Amino acid sequence: MPAKKNTAPQKETAEKTFTFTNDQTGESWQFPIVDGTAGPSVIDIRTLYENTGHFTLDPSFTATGSCKSRLTFIDGDEGILMHRGYSIEELTEKSTFLEVAYLLLYGDLPSKNELHDFTKSITYHTMVHEQIHLFFRGFRRDAHPMAIMCGVVGALSAFYHDSLDIWDPKQREISAHRLIAKMPTLAAMTYKYSIGQPFMYPRNDLGYAENFLQMCFGVPAEPYKVNPLHANAMEKIFILHADHEQNASTSTVRLAGSSQANPFACIASGITSLWGPSHGGANQEVLKMLEQIGHKKNIPEFIKRAKDKDDPFRLMGFGHRVYKNYDPRAQVLRASAHEVLHDLGINDNPLLELAMELEKIALEDKYFVDRKLFPNVDFYSGIILRALGFPDTMFTVLFALARTVGWISQWKEMMEEPTLRIGRPRQLYTGPAERPYIPMNKRK
Ligand code: CMC
Repeated sequence: MPAKKNTAPQKETAEKTFTFTNDQTGESWQFPIVDGTAGPSVIDIRTLYENTGHFTLDPSFTATGSCKSRLTFIDGDEGILMHRGYSIEELTEKSTFLEVAYLLLYGDLPSKNELHDFTKSITYHTMVHEQIHLFFRGFRRDAHPMAIMCGVVGALSAFYHDSLDIWDPKQREISAHRLIAKMPTLAAMTYKYSIGQPFMYPRNDLGYAENFLQMCFGVPAEPYKVNPLHANAMEKIFILHADHEQNASTSTVRLAGSSQANPFACIASGITSLWGPSHGGANQEVLKMLEQIGHKKNIPEFIKRAKDKDDPFRLMGFGHRVYKNYDPRAQVLRASAHEVLHDLGINDNPLLELAMELEKIALEDKYFVDRKLFPNVDFYSGIILRALGFPDTMFTVLFALARTVGWISQWKEMMEEPTLRIGRPRQLYTGPAERPYIPMNKRK
């Protein structure tokens, strides 16, 4: 694989600067302030160590920008989420998932012809290699679907790694299309495997969400008719989960990719990071929590527990690192939950009622108000997914399926930058200082 040229960091030429002063020595240094299109400007500290001899310490990245990106913008105070300048509300209402995928990958909404060609390319890649089928048999039937996804998506790299030149834009594009195309197939196979039913092959005459539902809920013994309401709800959920700038899993994908790893392995690393209950795993936990609460009369007890610092219990589906007003995805999903359940003829859904009551009580509670904790995307999604027939263990898999579009778009953007340097954070060492080695016969 040829090495990429020009690996030196680019320095910003900025008119605005920020001055750091060392109070002990009185020395001061100026660093450029760089503006984006929207959002807070950043202080470019890439030369900080070289100039001052200090690193910065920001373990959970609360104040650190890791890259420049043109894909997604979030204003957490205003509750705004935009992809390439289009609001999430408008995209959810007017676009299909594949249009949003195109937008994220290429920068603009597709024309009719572009969408036609893109759809053709995606459908061309929906099947997985027959050998992949054998991988599933190695897993226990009761394995968590996310565990299987970590394995089988990582296994894709075994099929494409040797022939893949990540410096070739065309090959990067095909890899992106392959991933977007194959994720529904793998996700559906994971579900089918868990219930002991035969895998369903993709059908390229169906839309992206329709095909996924047919692979999950169809059986070879009879024709499967996709309910358009289900397909529509699924599309919406996919769009709402497509990308969310530099969250934990996306940052994981970028960091993995920065070492020039192949994109299939990078996406597998994103899946592992997404799985945790603080991130994508929260959607499964929300339903578990609602069931545990069981009845409106028990809400105060659980609110009390969520506020108790000695109790590990947290209100799942509540809170967000960036959104401090509301999560616009949760707003869309709350409305959607009502619509979907109504359309499906489920007019009395105790879980939805419980969720709404929990939201109301929490939003009036000083603890949640003071900390600006609001329902996030995971709070309502599980209610819809369960109504569509998915078991709770599949919820995070569906998140991963949709987020693959964001992950691979972010990876593609990173690879298109003129410079690619391996990501390598530093640390503040707090272990023992250098000390003499103790021979075995002298150790206590
Ligand atoms: N229930 C109770 N208290 C909470 C919650 C919660 N869900 N979330 C945050 N807090 C408290 C937290 O204890 C802290 O209180 P204090 O200042 O007294 O120590 C304060 O609010 C700030 O929280 P934090 O943990 O410093 O915030 P963070 O930005 O590090 O974490 C979070 C964000 C999403 C991980 C967290 O809010 C959380 O664990 N929420 C529940 C899990 C969840 O719903 N995750 C899905 C996130 S959205 C989708 C996605 O990213 O995949």
